[in-house]
Formats: sequence, structure tokens, C-alpha cells
Amino acid sequence: MAQSAEMILRIADVTKSFEGVHALTDVTFEVRAGHIKALIGPNGAGKTTLLNVINGLLPPDIGHIYFRGQELIGMSTDRIALLGLSRTFQLIRLFTVNNATVLDNVMLGAHKLLKPTICGALFFRRKTAREERVVREQAMDALAFVGLEWAAAMLPGALSFGNQRLLELARSLMSQPELLLLDEPASGLNDAEVEGFMQLLSAIRARGITILLVEHNMKLVMNVSDEIVVLDFGRWLAEGAPAAICADPKVIEAYLGACMENGGS
Ligand SMILES: Nc1ncnc2c1ncn2[C@@H]1O[C@H](COP(=O)(O)OP(=O)(O)O)[C@@H](O)[C@H]1O
Ligand SMILES: [Mg+2]
Repeated sequence: MAQSAEMILRIADVTKSFEGVHALTDVTFEVRAGHIKALIGPNGAGKTTLLNVINGLLPPDIGHIYFRGQELIGMSTDRIALLGLSRTFQLIRLFTVNNATVLDNVMLGAHKLLKPTICGALFFRRKTAREERVVREQAMDALAFVGLEWAAAMLPGALSFGNQRLLELARSLMSQPELLLLDEPASGLNDAEVEGFMQLLSAIRARGITILLVEHNMKLVMNVSDEIVVLDFGRWLAEGAPAAICADPKVIEAYLGACMENGGS
């Protein structure tokens, strides 16, 4: 358990609108180093938008994001990745050009400055054989960590949906992040896969990696989170320990009718 009081991520007064849609309004919260913090809320609450602002895909209208005290607003996604921030996407993004294999997909995670569009042959020519071997070994380790070693030579499209999610997770770990942003990583997984995923998240946390987890599966959220923050209509609604969030009337009204039967079992 991380006893450090250090806040690895600080989101301060972030506001973002899309042509009149107030996706985020004045959102402020912090993420403690070494913790798993869940970010929950109804569909359209602004969760994905906030992850996009944090990793530099979207500029906010107003507000600041501080990672280890350093302002991220204005930095490119590549630069932010180099600082130690990695993420997965709500809709899985895998590379299939040039018959890229599962292993190739994981290896691409190691090369933060390389655009996905120039992967494949071009990319490998630019690496020395030795560099490539090291990256390949790291990628095999990442695949073994998520339990996908057996699939290394397969095409990603041949994997089940649940295994594609694990592949994305393996790739996101290749950059050796300090902070991982996960956008609904368990959506579409069956119960057994969710169980396995919980164990993986705990194992990632045990490596000292901080996680900001957007997730609807409340059993997973309740089991793995140190703390939960709730957004509703783009606004901060509540924040606290899982049990307190589950019992908060505001949260129950906005979102968590299902909390008890899901999380309590
Ligand atoms: N690129 C975009 N253009 C216009 N509206 C958007 C865009 N992205 C998100 N929105 C709107 O912002 C709000 C928040 O969306 P989102 O962040 O995806 O919510 P969540 O991930 O919590 O379901 C929604 O009303 C959504 O329709
Ligand atoms: Mg979303």
C-alpha cells in the first residue's frame, strides 16, 4: 500500500464545451500516487472527454492538469506519454496494417514518438537488431503478464474481444508508465474475464503504477478502487472511499441504483 501523500495528478478547474454542449464544467480532483482511482458517472457525464484532456488529445477551454506538479496543458500527446502517462481507449485501437501480429502491436507501445501510421516495415528498419530484440523481450513479458503469451504470433483480429482488451493493456504497459488512464477496460468482458481483469489491475498497482479507471462495472470498481470520484453532467458530484460513495444519496440518485447488488456481492 502506498502511504505517500503525493498527488501524482491534479485536475484543476477543467472546463470543456463542444458547440454548446458542456462536457466538463469546473472539474477539480486529485489522484494519489500508487492508488487506483475510479472515475464513474452516467453516459455523457464527461469521463472520456476528461481523459482526452489529460493526455493531450483535447485542449480544455479553461483549467489545468498537473502531472507530478508539471503543467500538461499545451503539451503534445507524445510528450505527455514520454513523461510517463499511458492510456487505453473505450473503443479498442489495434493496428492491423502489414499483417501486424499481436506481438507487433505490443512492441509499438514502446515507441511513444512513433506515429501509429508509420508502423510496420518502415519502423523496424529504423531500429537496430539489438534494440528490436530488447523491445521484443519486453513485449513478450508484457504479453505474459496479461496471460496472452500464447497469442504472440496471431493477428489481433483473431483474438476474442476480451483478449483484445488485454492486448491493449499489454501495449499500454510497454512504455513503463507511472500513470495509466483506462477507459472502460472491462466493457464487453464476461464475468470470468472481469475476475481476471481485477487481479491484473491489482498486480499493476502492486508494481507501483497509479491508475485512473473509467468503468461502469461496479463490482470491479468496488473491488479494486482506493477512491472514487463521480461526475454528473460534466460536474464533480462526489468523491471518497468506495463504501462512502455507495452510500451517498446524491450518487445513488444520479447513478448508482445498482451499486448495492453489484458491489456488495
Ligand atoms: N468530439 C465531440 N464533439 C461534440 N460533442 C462531444 C464530443 N465528445 C464528447 N461530446 C459530448 O460531450 C459529452 C460528454 O461525453 P463523454 O466525455 O464521451 O462522456 P462519457 O465518457 O462520460 O460517457 C456528451 O454530451 C458528448 O456527446
Ligand atoms: Mg466514455
